[in-house]
Amino acid sequence: MRVLMVFSVGLLVMTLMMSVCKGLSTSRIFERMQSTSSSSSNYLTKDEHWFNQTLDHFSPYDHRKFGQRYYEYLDQFRLPDGPIFLKICGESACGGISNDYLSVLAKKFGAAIVTLEHRYYGKSSPFKSLTTKNLQFLSSKQALYDLAAFRQYYQESLNLKLNRTNVENPWFVFGVSYAGALSAWFRLKFPHLTCGSLASSGVVLAVYNFTEFDQQVGESAGPECKAVLQEVTQLVEQKLASNGRALKSIFGATELKIDGDFLYFLADAGAIAFQYGNPDKLCTPMIEAKKAGADLVNAYANYIKEYYVGSFGAEVQTYNQEILKQTTLSDSSGDRLWWFQVCTEVAYFQVAPANDSIRSSKVNTRYHLDLCKNVFGEGVYPLVDATNLYYGGTDIAGSKIVFTNGSQDPWRHASKQVSSANMPSYLITCNNCGHGTDMRGCPQSPLVPEGSSKNCSSPDAVNKVRQQMIEQIDLWLSQCIAVSTYSG
Ligand SMILES: *[C@@H]1O[C@H](CO)[C@@H](O)[C@H](O)[C@H]1NC(C)=O
Ligand SMILES: *[C@@H]1O[C@H](CO)[C@@H](O)[C@H](O)[C@H]1NC(C)=O
Ligand SMILES: *[C@@H]1O[C@H](CO)[C@@H](O)[C@H](O)[C@H]1NC(C)=O
Ligand SMILES: *[C@@H]1O[C@H](CO)[C@@H](O)[C@H](O)[C@H]1NC(C)=O
Ligand SMILES: *[C@@H]1O[C@H](CO)[C@@H](O)[C@H](O)[C@H]1NC(C)=O
Ligand SMILES: *[C@@H]1O[C@H](CO)[C@@H](O)[C@H](O)[C@H]1NC(C)=O
Repeated sequence: MRVLMVFSVGLLVMTLMMSVCKGLSTSRIFERMQSTSSSSSNYLTKDEHWFNQTLDHFSPYDHRKFGQRYYEYLDQFRLPDGPIFLKICGESACGGISNDYLSVLAKKFGAAIVTLEHRYYGKSSPFKSLTTKNLQFLSSKQALYDLAAFRQYYQESLNLKLNRTNVENPWFVFGVSYAGALSAWFRLKFPHLTCGSLASSGVVLAVYNFTEFDQQVGESAGPECKAVLQEVTQLVEQKLASNGRALKSIFGATELKIDGDFLYFLADAGAIAFQYGNPDKLCTPMIEAKKAGADLVNAYANYIKEYYVGSFGAEVQTYNQEILKQTTLSDSSGDRLWWFQVCTEVAYFQVAPANDSIRSSKVNTRYHLDLCKNVFGEGVYPLVDATNLYYGGTDIAGSKIVFTNGSQDPWRHASKQVSSANMPSYLITCNNCGHGTDMRGCPQSPLVPEGSSKNCSSPDAVNKVRQQMIEQIDLWLSQCIAVSTYSG
């Protein structure tokens, strides 16, 4: 899949209506929730505020600023000293503060929630034209610095409102997926600015050839469903060779002229079912079609049209390199932006494993490198080793970070593997426990209000991990308050 996709609805300028991000498709990994169902119960607030952010945090000579969008939710805030929860928005437009499990935590802790849109995405783009040159300030490192500068600004404005100086509320940072990685990295790089972090399905390990992704899809599918999906891939490869255009039209994807884009679209569509906790939407009809001797390619096309495009809200153009090349800022720019991050920093190339793969073997390293070159130009290449050197990958030497993984989530192999006292890591195990289950609930797309876990196949598994999260947050907030009281 492509990890993240942003699905948005209108032109950026009209973003009033759009709001929710869907988490990643694979390209964008992560954070989209459903933009199609933007009922108001899905948001705590959609009132925008603006902050003047520094464009380049690493140059003493460049003093340019850009407007960065943020939101605040204060209904549960215990004035004046309650905690402040910084919810990081990831690789898509950030239309508001979504009503997920964090709202339950805010109630429990008397916390304010603030959230900052990621630079370049949504309405927080420094440039109207997204040429490769203009994208030079798009990186996780700049984004972390944005969060740090915003955190200081917000604390100071709060102090100003409350007629006080030099007071620090206890902060805690949250994020899912790529934003989960940012959450862990924020605590790593700015430990004095937060009492702790939650990294939900936080993909802290940059991976060049991410073969584990497809392997996990197979494991989550189980042998029977996996075998049917592999058969679909074989049939598709044969038909692609004989009459590609007719085949693509069955999937409503004739716009995908590059076969690799088409094969990637098909692979991503399957993976999403497991990533977002809806395995039955895919496996049930496919296994039935197989048993009935029906046309498997048609059955897969129906799944894609009804579920992936119809209800999840994916768009074929997300996979179209001709569209990814477009530099004009638009509601579909998020795809280009995430690919830029993929092609420069983190890769997560979801290539077919040599053995037993579900996706076509043509979705390989070459495909991804060609895409990077075609879309961004010669020389754009992911510095995976440098990224892992900078943050530590799964050896991240942080503290007070909670890691959570969903057992069925193909992304979990880029998250932290080993638990330790200072960085506990929990696996939420159930048949539909996917990406960010702890914050969103099952199934995760569309968003379940307050992250209700009642539709999980084993809600106890989710609630048990949530209970552990609460205990960690409570402990670390209390330690933080104890220290500031002592020193202050
Ligand atoms: C941001 O900068 C603009 C232009 O300099 C200024 O008019 C505006 O008041 C600033 N906004 C904030 C929130 O500081
Ligand atoms: C802060 O001070 C101003 C001016 O002295 C006063 O009007 C306002 O009520 C004060 N606000 C709070 C929250 O105490
Ligand atoms: C990734 O896979 C390609 C193709 O199999 C191989 O040539 C390359 O060495 C691999 N790179 C890394 C860093 O594993
Ligand atoms: C491929 O899978 C088979 C069966 O699972 C295994 O025995 C073999 O070692 C695998 N080959 C490679 C190259 O991983
Ligand atoms: C998170 O996922 C990785 C990869 O599957 C796994 O090894 C690790 O055990 C998981 N974390 C926890 C706490 O289970
Ligand atoms: C949860 O399950 C109930 C009962 O099966 C169903 O009516 C409802 O639509 C489900 N909710 C979601 C978000 O899937």
